[in-house]
Amino acid sequence: MSPVDPSSPENGTVADGLAALVADLRAALEHAKLRGVWAEDPVSVVLPEPEPADTPLPAPPEPPSAPVVPVAAGQWTALAATARREAEERMEVGSQALRLIREDLGECRRCNLCTGRSHVVFGAGSPEADLVVVGEAPGYHEDRQGEPFVGQAGQMLDKMLENVLGLPRAEVYICNIVKCRPPQNRNPLPDEVDACLPFLQRQIAALEPKVLLVLGTVAFKTLFATSQGIMRSRGIWREYSGIPAMPTLHPAYLLRQPQDKRKAFEDLQAVRARYDELGGRRSS
Ligand code: URA
Repeated sequence: MSPVDPSSPENGTVADGLAALVADLRAALEHAKLRGVWAEDPVSVVLPEPEPADTPLPAPPEPPSAPVVPVAAGQWTALAATARREAEERMEVGSQALRLIREDLGECRRCNLCTGRSHVVFGAGSPEADLVVVGEAPGYHEDRQGEPFVGQAGQMLDKMLENVLGLPRAEVYICNIVKCRPPQNRNPLPDEVDACLPFLQRQIAALEPKVLLVLGTVAFKTLFATSQGIMRSRGIWREYSGIPAMPTLHPAYLLRQPQDKRKAFEDLQAVRARYDELGGRRSS
């Protein structure tokens, strides 16, 4: 088909028609531009822009929240003072109960361990602790100083508490199944355990911890009246008087068998998670 020459006289009517058509098109384009519909790429006007891959999803609507009551500057001081008083009262009640148990224990002569000891090692730590650690029996250093876990095993325990649980020794409560050192660090005998256990039970009841950490075979077998060994039982949650209890390897054992530290690490990680889940306190 030959191109149309609008200047040719025989094509006058065609040229007129084309000119009218072009004018109509121009008018239509102007109209569209004015309405903002025009775009260089008309497809993008019709289809929504694809979302970039990392565009976050729109946030769900906020649930209706309780009205925020503004606290005046002076009120903060009052609220902080109340919280401090409550903490002190809790501490006072806790230490009062522990003091009574300590008084009842006295300079104990209920079993033969009293004959070789220097000190009764009652327990140490925060009376408002949410974690109670139960070991086996005082060793040489504990007997000399009257404090639990102050020797090499104690240093290992401090690391376990601080580095894995994020709890310094001062924020937990540490005690043992028996409160006097057995000769040559032998395991406590059944009658020695029987004489001492009621005091430990009272300590735990007074402290009402959120979690118990049970160290080693002797503590585990005593608290759960079982003959099962610690190796098969560690890392598995139990309950002691309604309190979640985690049996794990004794730090003295870990000093001799450092290749098993990973097992204890895993147990302590589980303790940390449970402790936080239950709202266990930590100072920082
Ligand atoms: N081992 C324990 O089980 N308790 C202590 O207090 C010290 C070492």
